Amino acid sequence: MQDFASGPVLIVGCGRLGSAVVEGWLDHGPVDPRRLMIVTPSPKAVADRAERAGARINPGSEQLASVQAVVLAVKPAVWRAAVADLPGALDWDAVIISLMAGVRADDIREATGRSVVRLMPTTAVAQGRGVAAVWSEDRGAVEAAAQLFGPLADIVSLATEDQIDVATAVAGSGPAYIHAFARAMAEAGVEAGLSPDDAVRLARGAVRSAAAAPMDDDLEKLIARIASPGGTTQAGLKAAEEAGLGAAAKAAVSAALRRARELSGQ
Ligand SMILES: NC(=O)c1ccc[n+]([C@@H]2O[C@H](COP(=O)([O-])OP(=O)(O)OC[C@H]3O[C@@H](n4cnc5c(N)ncnc54)[C@H](OP(=O)(O)O)[C@@H]3O)[C@@H](O)[C@H]2O)c1
Repeated sequence: MQDFASGPVLIVGCGRLGSAVVEGWLDHGPVDPRRLMIVTPSPKAVADRAERAGARINPGSEQLASVQAVVLAVKPAVWRAAVADLPGALDWDAVIISLMAGVRADDIREATGRSVVRLMPTTAVAQGRGVAAVWSEDRGAVEAAAQLFGPLADIVSLATEDQIDVATAVAGSGPAYIHAFARAMAEAGVEAGLSPDDAVRLARGAVRSAAAAPMDDDLEKLIARIASPGGTTQAGLKAAEEAGLGAAAKAAVSAALRRARELSGQ
């Protein structure tokens, strides 16, 4: 099996997500910074850090022939310009890993002439604690993505490309929904008598405590461990469900999905 982590690996775009990926690789592997190349129009702190560790910033096209995998982390509006020089410079076996929302694999394949895998990670890849949905028709390309991102994220392999948007609505946007829920919990705590500072610290601590639970445990089991029968948590959960907790989650996911489809012109 091809070892994609031994590179060279090229990442195009070092904004919010690209920087998170590079930071993750520098701190958690598997990409050796000496085998990493970064394309970035403007200087970025994490690119400077990678350069100090041996990475090459803005390589010339003659340096791309040995690249095994290209990670696309630019905005959808600029991707065609960002990949324009790649087809003539890359080896035929190079795999394109697109992190872009709303750009179909077929379009990227047509523009680059290379195998394409779509991977939708969260920015917690920087801490090696992300989650990433992955899809490709090509199993070799999925393998490339799993090798490069496995140390940074839980890789969830999807059955269809359309599910990428659903995964984004659940996991990509999800942390913002959870922060919003924590804010609402803090507001409820203030109404019930806490000071605003204490309420925010306690609500954020609750999110941190939930995140510290063993990730392979069943969600029902995790809930049951806290909500003992007839207790306060069970009463709170019942009230939250009756007030529309499930309906709010469904509304959030379907609105994010609808917006993703509008933005990608589907
Ligand atoms: N942010 C997230 O949480 C997230 C999650 C999943 C997927 N995504 C996807 O990731 C992609 C990037 O999102 P983002 O939030 O990281 O955006 P961003 O912060 O705007 O980063 C995009 C970067 O691309 C750079 N860039 C522009 N033209 C370029 C070119 N021709 N070659 C190389 N780099 C170029 C920009 O450089 P300058 O800064 O120098 O202008 C910018 O730093 C999007 O397609 C998005 O759908 C993002």
